[in-house]
Amino acid sequence: MERLVEIETFSADEESNEITLRPDAWSEYIGQEQIKKNLGVFIEASKKRDEALDHVLFYGPPGLGKTTLALIIANEMNANIKVTAAPMIEKSGDLAAILTNLEEGDILFIDEIHRLSPAVEEILYSSMEDYRIDIIIGSGPAAQTVKIDLPRFTLIGATTRAGMLSNPLRDRFGMSFRMQFYSSDELAQIIAQASIKLEKEIIHEAALEISKRSRGTPRIALRLLRRVRDFADVADENDINHKRTQYALDELGINSHGFDEMDIRLLKLLASAKGRAMGLSTIAAALSEDEGTVEDVLEPYLLANGYLERTSKGRKATRMTYDVLNITHVNEDGTLF
Ligand SMILES: Nc1ncnc2c1ncn2[C@@H]1O[C@H](COP(=O)(O)OP(=O)(O)OP(=O)(O)O)[C@@H](O)[C@H]1O
Ligand SMILES: [Mg+2]
Repeated sequence: MERLVEIETFSADEESNEITLRPDAWSEYIGQEQIKKNLGVFIEASKKRDEALDHVLFYGPPGLGKTTLALIIANEMNANIKVTAAPMIEKSGDLAAILTNLEEGDILFIDEIHRLSPAVEEILYSSMEDYRIDIIIGSGPAAQTVKIDLPRFTLIGATTRAGMLSNPLRDRFGMSFRMQFYSSDELAQIIAQASIKLEKEIIHEAALEISKRSRGTPRIALRLLRRVRDFADVADENDINHKRTQYALDELGINSHGFDEMDIRLLKLLASAKGRAMGLSTIAAALSEDEGTVEDVLEPYLLANGYLERTSKGRKATRMTYDVLNITHVNEDGTLF
């Protein structure tokens, strides 16, 4: 069971810093209103019936609060939560060990759930549906199948790559929620709340400044907040003001649209097609990324904000793409592309 690690220990430094900033109650979880509303109903209903919550899937780009939501659900349900990630479950025996150690009403959170191997997925299906697994003991002619009953548990799956989930797995979740990018106002609230926890309050204007450069993503917003706070600390300032924030963000080379290096590479690539559409496979090859990452991780933010267009022929740069890159969108013959 040592593979089954709790949230405090499984992730890198930056995440463990984030732990203190991670909201653990609904009231601190800003935004994603539709998801909160629906989940609230389902949680209340299952509590009333004294049943485990149905299995839940969260999908969407990294850093939008999937893990945080899973922890809040556990909190609301007064349930124990076991946190693991698909790459840690190598063999079907690993999953069987995790499942058989669950108790009635426990929550099992599997991050990166698209990365389960087919053999492990197979075990997961029957556990989700029938709360029962078949384990094969021994090998060859002497092999025996043992059926094990499991307690009623709730599986919460999270993935950044919804497209890579197999249909049978997707179908076994009673609820699935797509995470949305956050508005500047929501991010500013998240930043303000975190700054109080960090004991270095940020003024509203400064929080907005950070939020605009955070790619709609709380994780990025909080990372920038910490860096800006370093600047304020060094300058011996008691709070985080607007001027210091602007200075810090410029020093850090944070683009005013919140684009990261990958975004810029993708946008430049699209712009180089001068108005023509570019196929997903071409884009992936040019960026040395796989198609799924381009589609599920890189594109959503750009698409949602009008910097990229999907057509039947492929992806296209928009007016805004050329504007933001400072590239003129005029052909040699004077027509616009
Ligand atoms: N709605 C929110 N309100 C307040 N803080 C949030 C919210 N969503 C996320 N955060 C903060 O942003 C950080 C990143 O969130 P989280 O780790 O839950 O993202 P994730 O979707 O699980 O990312 P990944 O796909 O990389 O696992 C958390 O540490 C949390 O503090
Ligand atoms: Mg996560």
